[in-house]
Amino acid sequence: MDSILIRGGVRLSGRVVVSGAKNAALPAIAAALLTGDEVTISGVPALDDVDTMCELLDSLGVSVSITPGRVRLRAPRAAAKQAPYDLVRRMRASFLVAGPLLARFGAARMPMPGGCAIGSRPINLHLKAFAAMGADLATGNGYIEAVAPAAGLRGARVYLDYPSVGATENAMMAAVLADGITIIENAAQEPEVVDLANLLAAMGAKVRGAGTAVIKIEGVDELHGAAHTIIPDRIEAGTYMAAAAITGGDVIIDNVVPEHLAATMSKLREAGAVIETQGSSLRVSASGDLQPLDIKTMPYPGFPTDLQAQFMALLSIARGTSIITETVFENRFMHVDELTRMGAKIKIDGRSAVVEGVEALSGAPVRATDLRAGAALVVAALASRGETEIFGVGHIDRGYEAIERKLGALGAVIERRTDARESLAAGAGAS
Ligand code: EPZ
Repeated sequence: MDSILIRGGVRLSGRVVVSGAKNAALPAIAAALLTGDEVTISGVPALDDVDTMCELLDSLGVSVSITPGRVRLRAPRAAAKQAPYDLVRRMRASFLVAGPLLARFGAARMPMPGGCAIGSRPINLHLKAFAAMGADLATGNGYIEAVAPAAGLRGARVYLDYPSVGATENAMMAAVLADGITIIENAAQEPEVVDLANLLAAMGAKVRGAGTAVIKIEGVDELHGAAHTIIPDRIEAGTYMAAAAITGGDVIIDNVVPEHLAATMSKLREAGAVIETQGSSLRVSASGDLQPLDIKTMPYPGFPTDLQAQFMALLSIARGTSIITETVFENRFMHVDELTRMGAKIKIDGRSAVVEGVEALSGAPVRATDLRAGAALVVAALASRGETEIFGVGHIDRGYEAIERKLGALGAVIERRTDARESLAAGAGAS
């Protein structure tokens, strides 16, 4: 089992290049199921979750070839229609193959994706969209079977009770080959939804309104291959912005889309960081004295839930008390206990966390419980006195490419230990 060792106290400086967006790569790979032609996705990050999605498509009969930064996919007619349980259990985003399977092959048999550390993660809105387009749904033995009418899915009006990113993406992919027009109302507006729409359009789909609350899709008979480069990862970028600020550093972050980070830049400036943007780069510098903030996570373009944990780490040493309210997921404060072990003063009150800034954090053995909680522990460790050993690094590797190389290049004292022994002090045995 790997761990990451960080000795805190270094002001980060230099340049770091952001990788392609995990949450754009995963739906893009699933979309390759919608055509028998070759689909090439470039700018793909080297992440465990990307490998899992490729493994899933391979298990469905799709030919997948991975080279550094690029995935080539070709889905023959005869792809299987059942996703393996162990892959769906490992990664909830596996459910994104349901829409394409249903649209292209008329059926999808999916294990119910489990919940995870941050919440129950229901899929009712995905199923609502499929049913609206005429699919018959049956559940049993932990599986969901969706079957399209013999004549295929029909265009429909679908209202999403919550602007779910995954449900929007699954509905889009189901609709592109449906007979007629589909209107998705209260759609998610995340940049990753727009990126998927751009790929679908490049494949010949007729999609309008992605990035707004109403997406209109006119079904076509078939889609063709395409080559697509995915957008940079705004959450990775935001994580490095928080790392620069908490260490009082001066960092240039390359390969970003500044408008994807509007809420993040606004809050970081409010905390006292200086941020300059120039083309696809931005520069974050901070004095070390951070002001407290009130943050409320919201669907895009609001403050992203995926940066909530990292900003909690940042604010744990601000000069005052901050209030962070998590409105998207019901249990996304798993990082609080671990930050507390590092000396943070945080009190959870329902969906809010009250963060009383302390003079400094101190290094400790801690454990990542989920991807972004792990990122928060890294951010905290960079500014802590002494050494922090972070266990559960597998969570971090799901969403951060070469994190120790990138942080090391900014001056961080960081190393990965393989086969680390987790001491009792670090809560060994906590599953
Ligand atoms: C995507 O997850 C991202 N994952 C998540 O990033 C991100 O946190 C989330 O969107 C919100 O921005 C990928 O894109 C692969 P949702 P998704 O459906 O689609 C409720 C990370 O760290 N909901 O927008 O699963 C749900 O319970 C990951 O990279 C329903 O009620 O998120 C949650 O409260 C974590 N019914 C809210 O919507 C449904 O059918 C947002 O979920 C679907 C969702």
